[in-house]
Amino acid sequence: MDAAEAVKTLLSPSATHDPVPAYAALRKYGPVLPVADGYYFVSGYAAVDGILRDAAMETYDIKRLDSRWDDWRDNKALELFADSMLRSNPPDHTRMRRLAAGVFTARRVGTLRAVIEEQVAEALDGLDGTADLMSELCYPLPIGVITALLGVPAEDRGQFRRLAEALTAVLEVRWTPEDEAKAHEAAVELEDYFIHLVAQKQREPGDDLTTALAKGGELSGRELLGNLMLLLVAGFETTTNLLGNGIVLLLDHGATPPQSCVEEILRFDSPVQLTERYATHAVQIGNVQIEEGAELVLLLGAANRDPERFEKADEFWPERPNNTPLSFGAGAHYCLGAPLARLEAQIALPALFRRFPELRLTGKPVRRPRMNLRGWDALPVTLGTP
Ligand code: HEM
Repeated sequence: MDAAEAVKTLLSPSATHDPVPAYAALRKYGPVLPVADGYYFVSGYAAVDGILRDAAMETYDIKRLDSRWDDWRDNKALELFADSMLRSNPPDHTRMRRLAAGVFTARRVGTLRAVIEEQVAEALDGLDGTADLMSELCYPLPIGVITALLGVPAEDRGQFRRLAEALTAVLEVRWTPEDEAKAHEAAVELEDYFIHLVAQKQREPGDDLTTALAKGGELSGRELLGNLMLLLVAGFETTTNLLGNGIVLLLDHGATPPQSCVEEILRFDSPVQLTERYATHAVQIGNVQIEEGAELVLLLGAANRDPERFEKADEFWPERPNNTPLSFGAGAHYCLGAPLARLEAQIALPALFRRFPELRLTGKPVRRPRMNLRGWDALPVTLGTP
C-alpha cells in the first residue's frame, strides 16, 4: 500500500474493519505525512504525544476554523460539540475544564466502585445460555454508570444508545449528509432532554454532576448543554467500545484478564482512533515543516502501534511492561473520564471471565461502521456453564 492508498483507506469505510495495515503503510513515510495542502496525518507516537502536549496546537475549533461552518451552524450536534470543552481552547477550555474537574473528582469516581460492582453483578446475573454481550453488558454498564453520575433517572436510560449512535457520526473525519441529518435530530432530542433535566435539578438539587455543573452560573447555557452531552456520550460510547474490544481480544487470545490487560486493550484496539489539532504557529516536526494554520489528524491508534515506542507493537501482550498508550490523549484535553473508564473495565472484564470461564463467540462479531469511535455492534456468545 502506498501513502495515497493508505490515506484513502483511512478515509473510507473499509478502515472500519482494520485500520492497522493503513497505519503501517503511512508510517513508512515517516511520523508526519502531508496529505493535502495544510493537512497532515500524524502516525508516530512521539510526534502525536508532542503535538498533544504543545500549547501552540489547539483543538480543532470548527466554528472558527472550518469554512464549512456556515453550512453546519444549524446542525445541533455540531453546535453542541463545538460548545463543549472538547472543542474549546483557552481561556474557555481552562474555565470549563477546571469546573468539570472540580466536580468530577477522584473521590467521586471512588464512590462509584460499589455502583459499578453492583451493576456488573446485575448484568452477569441476567445472562444465561447465549447472549449478545454488547446489548447485555457493554452498553448497559457504562450507560448505567454515567447516568448515575449525571443524576439521570434510571427509567430514562433506554434511549441513549440510539441517540449516541446517531450523534457520534459527526466525530468521524468524514460523514454523509444523511449522518449529519440524523446527528442533528438526535442532538435536538438530547438537548431537549437536558434542558428539562437541568430545570429539574435547579428545583431539586441532587448530589450529581448535572446539579454541580448547573450551579453557580459559571457556564453559559450553551456550554452547559454542550458539556452535559459530551459527558454523557463520551462517558459511555467509548467505554462500551473498551469493554467490547477487550472481550473479543481476550477471547481471541485465550487470556484470563489480569487488571493490567486494560492498558493493553486500550493500546491494541483503541476505542478512540484519532483526534485533530490546528497549528497556531509554524512548527518543525522531524524533517517536516508544519505551517501556521495547518490541520493535523492525530492517529492515536497508529501511535499506539508504533514499533519505535512499543516492542512487538502488533502483538497483544496483556502484561506488557511500561505500557503508556495515547488512547486517552495527553496534555490539556487529556480524558477527564480515564480513571472511571479504567475502573469499569478493571471490574467488569475479570468478573465476566471469572463467572463464565467457558465463554465463547458463536459467530463473527460485526464492527460498527465507524473509523474513529471503534467498537462492535454485536457480540454473540455462548456462556457455557457458570
Ligand atoms: C477527552 C478517550 C472515557 C469524558 C478524551 C480524549 C480522548 C478520550 C482521546 C481527548 C480528545 C482530544 O484530545 O482531542 C476516551 C476513551 C474512553 C473515554 C478511550 C474510554 C475507554 C471517558 C469517560 C468520560 C470521558 C468515561 C466521562 C465520564 C471526556 C471529556 C473529555 C475527554 C469530558 C474532554 C476533556 C477536555 O477537552 O479537556 N477522551 N475517553 N471520557 N473525555 Fe474521554
